[in-house]
Amino acid sequence: MKTIILLSLALVFAANAAPAPAPVLDVHGKYLRTGAIYYIMPVFSDYEHGGLFPVNYTSAVAQRRDYHQGLPLIFSPVNPKKGVIRLSTDVNVKFSDTTGWDIESNVWKVKYDKALKQYAVMVGGVEGNPGPETLDNWFKIEKTNNGYKFVFCPSVCSYCKVMCKDVGTVIDKGGWRRLVLSGDPMSFVFWSTY
Ligand SMILES: *[C@@H]1O[C@H](CO)[C@@H](O)[C@H](O)[C@H]1NC(C)=O
Repeated sequence: MKTIILLSLALVFAANAAPAPAPVLDVHGKYLRTGAIYYIMPVFSDYEHGGLFPVNYTSAVAQRRDYHQGLPLIFSPVNPKKGVIRLSTDVNVKFSDTTGWDIESNVWKVKYDKALKQYAVMVGGVEGNPGPETLDNWFKIEKTNNGYKFVFCPSVCSYCKVMCKDVGTVIDKGGWRRLVLSGDPMSFVFWSTY
């Protein structure tokens, strides 16, 4: 009798404890850490694509059109106590050092761009405070066949209806290669300097 009760308890526990999604890995195979600094670079270098940066004044997030690392990024999970960034979980993304940039804030968000006629990734977001008011500020990292991609598909509000889209790039009229919500994801890897 005791054995049966213990066995059923074990089954209940096993069923309730959903396994945590796999951690995101950097190019060295190390777990992506909360608060650490990373550069996002294309999987293969073609010297025409590089890291990310905010466009001065406009706050658009753009990709370098040369093989330059861009500005460092920091990731913070929806539960700030977690030290590891995991696949398919809500994270805030921000540029770590934007001194000298004339922009609203260094935190990423999604915003409709009238000139582009599509949703674009911009800075000017806020960090933390998950819920309906901060929906636009949460991104997820998902695997591609050779690296990772960003996805906009926030889970921070259970009753909100959200669109789910990959983050890709488009070249705007100013010649910037902008990050936008599109069907064609940008695939990249995470470089760490340590
Ligand atoms: C952004 O614009 C400001 C104001 O004109 C300027 O001082 C600064 O150097 C610019 N920053 C970059 C990174 O281009």
